[in-house]
Amino acid sequence: MKVAAIGTGNMGAGFAQLLAGANHEVTIGSRDPAKAAELVERVGKNVVGGGIAAAVKPADVIILALPYGVISDALKDAGDLTGKVLVDISNPVTADFKGLVVGHTNSAAEEIQVLAPTAKVVKGFNTIFAQLLSHETRNGKTLQVFLAADDSTAKDTVTTLAKSLAFEPVDAGPLSNSRFIEPIGEMNIHFGFFLGWSPTGAPSWVRV
Ligand SMILES: NC(=O)c1ccc[n+]([C@@H]2O[C@H](COP(=O)([O-])OP(=O)(O)OC[C@H]3O[C@@H](n4cnc5c(N)ncnc54)[C@H](OP(=O)(O)O)[C@@H]3O)[C@@H](O)[C@H]2O)c1
Repeated sequence: MKVAAIGTGNMGAGFAQLLAGANHEVTIGSRDPAKAAELVERVGKNVVGGGIAAAVKPADVIILALPYGVISDALKDAGDLTGKVLVDISNPVTADFKGLVVGHTNSAAEEIQVLAPTAKVVKGFNTIFAQLLSHETRNGKTLQVFLAADDSTAKDTVTTLAKSLAFEPVDAGPLSNSRFIEPIGEMNIHFGFFLGWSPTGAPSWVRV
């Protein structure tokens, strides 16, 4: 798959490494192309990098590895997103990471869909810490990712992508269910950073 990772921080770098390792064709986009070039160097194969629009252009799937608060600006630099699958991995957290700035009647994912109406937004991976993107740190466990989207083809694409990265995708319904998935991400942050687990946990739904 042709996948762009926008952002070179914890999640952008983790995804770039993971995707390239799974033989996807990866483009890395950054507001600072020098940072993209540095990450390309680190990843090594199956990857090119540059500005945000340059990374978006060839990609079918775009992973927005950016803080929620800057996504609106970054989308303005992204060029034409028509028909592209936009994966929103964000947890729209407050500055102290202890609460959410969106919720109950809306979600970050729905707001991004409004900002990018011609793209197909899929919510997912917000419950996976950057530290658990690499296969080694997952310790042999298969972690679930909850995928919410209104476009079934886009959800199928991200389902296939998640499987290729050795995650267990879980169909979490329409994009509006991001209103529930985002608080689960926030709870995971509390376990990881405020309740003593360190970022080693991920939520899992169990059927009996
Ligand atoms: N970290 C996790 O474990 C984790 C887990 C699940 C979900 N998430 C979500 O993933 C997203 C990224 O988190 P992260 O931990 O990777 O963040 P991060 O390490 O702080 O990286 C953020 C990236 O966003 C870029 N950026 C910041 N402001 C920008 C702007 N105005 N325009 C364009 N790019 C901008 C930064 O570029 P510069 O380097 O140039 O500043 C950097 O590449 C967030 O929405 C977060 O909620 C994170």
